[in-house]
Amino acid sequence: GHRVVALDQSPAMLAKLRERVAALPTAARDRAEVVTGDLCTFELRQTFDLVIAAFNVFEHLYTRGEVDACLRRVLAHLAPGGALAFDVQLPDLAWLIRDPIKRWAKTRFKDPSTGRAVFYSTNHDYDPVGQIALIRIYYDPIDGGPGRIVKLSQRKFFPAELEALVAHAGLTMVERFGDFSFGPLDAGSDSQVLVCEAAVPRRKTGG
Ligand SMILES: C[S@@+](CC[C@H](N)C(=O)[O-])C[C@H]1O[C@@H](n2cnc3c(N)ncnc32)[C@H](O)[C@@H]1O
Repeated sequence: GHRVVALDQSPAMLAKLRERVAALPTAARDRAEVVTGDLCTFELRQTFDLVIAAFNVFEHLYTRGEVDACLRRVLAHLAPGGALAFDVQLPDLAWLIRDPIKRWAKTRFKDPSTGRAVFYSTNHDYDPVGQIALIRIYYDPIDGGPGRIVKLSQRKFFPAELEALVAHAGLTMVERFGDFSFGPLDAGSDSQVLVCEAAVPRRKTGG
């Protein structure tokens, strides 16, 4: 029964989402709105009880300025008592310093678009100053021929840093988990799931 506004800057991602929204029952479809926008500048002219940035979205905010701009945009869109919930990966020190030449996570699968057997593998370079991992994902046909490389950049956030970044933007971390089942954040966690609220609670306006 909730009204939902979904924001992304990628036309391809939004097109997929619009297809999924179109397949919903009418009542649910009428409560969903899909908008094009940038995380650092969006202005939706409404406020929300809950803002969710799921599946490492904030790992695409690469500089301190981008993180701060985005969190301040979220804060401006929170209704009184509203919350931001988001997840980023817990940096894995062993993964960060992996050999950037070797191919990791080699997996054989059938490409659904071509039907050809393909080897998936990956490696990355990690910049420990900017805390950015430049990841390469390789798709190599098993029967030879040209492969494909998909590149992906992810900003890594360490837990104490994340708490400070959130506070700097005027939010306060009220809860933190290691997964989406409310498990604790510890050395074995893959994710950091944070729930944040306005550091200075907003008052309800109007009568
Ligand atoms: C890992 S995907 C998660 C997508 C979505 N949250 C989901 O659950 O399927 C990250 C998304 O962030 C979007 N994105 C990255 N930088 C962005 C920005 N500056 N403004 C808006 N969207 C951005 C990408 O287009 C991509 O769809």
